[in-house]
Amino acid sequence: MLTTTLAAPSLSELAQDVRAGLSKPGQKELPCRYFYDEIGSALFEVITHLPEYGLSRAGERLLRKHASALASRLPAPAVVAELGCGSGKNTRWLLETLVQNRPVTYCPIEISGAALAACKRQMDDLDSLTFLGFEREYLEGLAEVAAFRPTHEPLLVLFLGSTIGNFSRSEGVQFLKQVRRNMIPGDSLLLAADLEKPVRQLLLAYDDPRGVTAAFNVNLLARLNRELEADFRLDLFRHVARYSREERRIEMHLLSTAEQTVTIPGAGLAVALKQGETIWTESSHKYNLPEILRMAHQSGFRCDGQWVDEEWPFAHTLMAAE
Ligand SMILES: C[S@@+](CC[C@H](N)C(=O)[O-])C[C@H]1O[C@@H](n2cnc3c(N)ncnc32)[C@H](O)[C@@H]1O
Repeated sequence: MLTTTLAAPSLSELAQDVRAGLSKPGQKELPCRYFYDEIGSALFEVITHLPEYGLSRAGERLLRKHASALASRLPAPAVVAELGCGSGKNTRWLLETLVQNRPVTYCPIEISGAALAACKRQMDDLDSLTFLGFEREYLEGLAEVAAFRPTHEPLLVLFLGSTIGNFSRSEGVQFLKQVRRNMIPGDSLLLAADLEKPVRQLLLAYDDPRGVTAAFNVNLLARLNRELEADFRLDLFRHVARYSREERRIEMHLLSTAEQTVTIPGAGLAVALKQGETIWTESSHKYNLPEILRMAHQSGFRCDGQWVDEEWPFAHTLMAAE
């Protein structure tokens, strides 16, 4: 197997985003993409094994069960690009099927170098697979893939794990439109989306009793301590998961348990937090099947297939670029 990995974005972007998010009037925020340093990526991998976090196993079941049906509805892709591959353990089920038809160049696009390295190890023994990793933002990496892919050969883009849920519904459509701009008619997108389910089940998925999701959330502050020389006292923050019925989403926050001021020299910032005030770190929107189809149409795709897990409502939708 051939492998190449292209290098990482700069630290100053982290400093700028932290500065912008924590200086916001009203609700303070930190972008969820900064969860995934080496420790965060390792913690996310543990989350995927938690009994309460049904999303990953649902995605795995769907790919194990339907990889052949999916492949039969696609023009055999020569290039497969994946947005946010994580460890790639679910993707492997699909790639194993696709390389039976023809050699595939697999281009995972990942902001986390650690996740990209884990994904490379995951695919190491797949013959007929060329691994070309991009340590990049989703759209930046996809534009690079679009620039080199042979236009007479079909491209398959994967966006798995319901990561689309981190965008608001309208941002999600805008994002899919931009993905579509990097594709041509005949290309396909496989999109995973977590579906609405009882609130209790959702809250447990994002606030497990073992505290792994809490550690994942708090690690974001630890990362700012490590990389921006911040002085967050981790014992003065508590992980909180809430469900907004209005927005149909889980929100993860870090709640300050005391009035405090945190300094972040790397971002040139001092942040005052009141007791009970929160920093909003992630949203995970939940969908229903008709709205996924609407999102596909609004962003320039035709739906060519949809598979829904029977144990944990979760959908894979195959969309063709029109
Ligand atoms: C929720 S995890 C899903 C991982 C994997 N797809 C799965 O199903 O288990 C999201 C992944 O996307 C990556 N990621 C998050 N934001 C990103 C961005 N803006 N650009 C590229 N990768 C990103 C993270 O590092 C992480 O590995």
